[in-house]
Amino acid sequence: ELYNFRQIGSDTKVHGVIGKPIGHSKSPHLYNAAFKSVNFNGIYLPLLVDSVANFIKAFSSPDFVGYSYTIPHKEDGLRCCDEVDPIAQAIGAISCMVRRSDGTLMGYNVDYLGAIAAIEEALRAREGTNGAASPLVGKLFVVIGAGGAGKALAYGGYEKGARVVVANRTYEKAQELANKVGGKAITLEELENFHPEDGMILANTTSVGMKPNIDRTPLSKKALSHYSLVFDAIYTPKLTRLLREAQECGATPVYGTEMFINQAFVQFERFTGMPGRLFISKKPSESWII
Ligand code: ATR
Repeated sequence: ELYNFRQIGSDTKVHGVIGKPIGHSKSPHLYNAAFKSVNFNGIYLPLLVDSVANFIKAFSSPDFVGYSYTIPHKEDGLRCCDEVDPIAQAIGAISCMVRRSDGTLMGYNVDYLGAIAAIEEALRAREGTNGAASPLVGKLFVVIGAGGAGKALAYGGYEKGARVVVANRTYEKAQELANKVGGKAITLEELENFHPEDGMILANTTSVGMKPNIDRTPLSKKALSHYSLVFDAIYTPKLTRLLREAQECGATPVYGTEMFINQAFVQFERFTGMPGRLFISKKPSESWII
């Protein structure tokens, strides 16, 4: 079901998700089903990669056209591109790479779009607003983590007019990122007692709470009462301990699955050249991908 091998021929376009580990990824299920549903002659593989540079060198055939990037290769991926879009350059990480017809590799970061769109949608629903202005304007937006995903979220919040706070285990990385987005850096210990105001927005971009360590959480339940909305980039499991406890404290949970689906629409366009709405019209139910 995952791979329709009868379809593979010399003109089949090869795609994949590059990461380590990669066994947990739902992307192959999603993209193979999407390619098939629009009769796109492509395949999408899970790619367990140690060195992105070696991988790119080894698989340089024109038929290897598109890759998604996940932990821990989003920053290495950027270094392997011939050209990078300005947002990915600013973030310092890519989530998607496409081989153009002249053979060169173009990098994008679409994490930022998917996550911020999901947060904005949930905030609008919570606040009952639907104006053109982003509901993130003026909000205190706390990002846990300063890796590729943390950078994407911090830049997204900054671009939308939020006041950004970066909390990270390695404080120096939090400082570096906070400086770039005109924000404030704190340690994870400081985050526990950080509540200059109520109604803050929280975004976890670390892997704390990911399967199999589902009993772990990046922030105690006690601290969660100061947040109105909590986003978790983790999507295995869908309901992390962080999101469950946030919900118990009255905050709106935004699931990593929403970021995953939103960014998948954008990547689908980049990979196939077909409009994302084709993919949206085939949007699988969340239970199907989990
Ligand atoms: P991604 O591209 O998904 O953001 P990454 O670049 O490897 O992945 O970044 C992982 C982030 O999760 C980092 O901010 C990391 O903190 P450090 O900068 O201190 O390494 C954070 N992280 C990972 N494991 C963690 C843990 N057990 N506790 C706290 N933070 C953790």
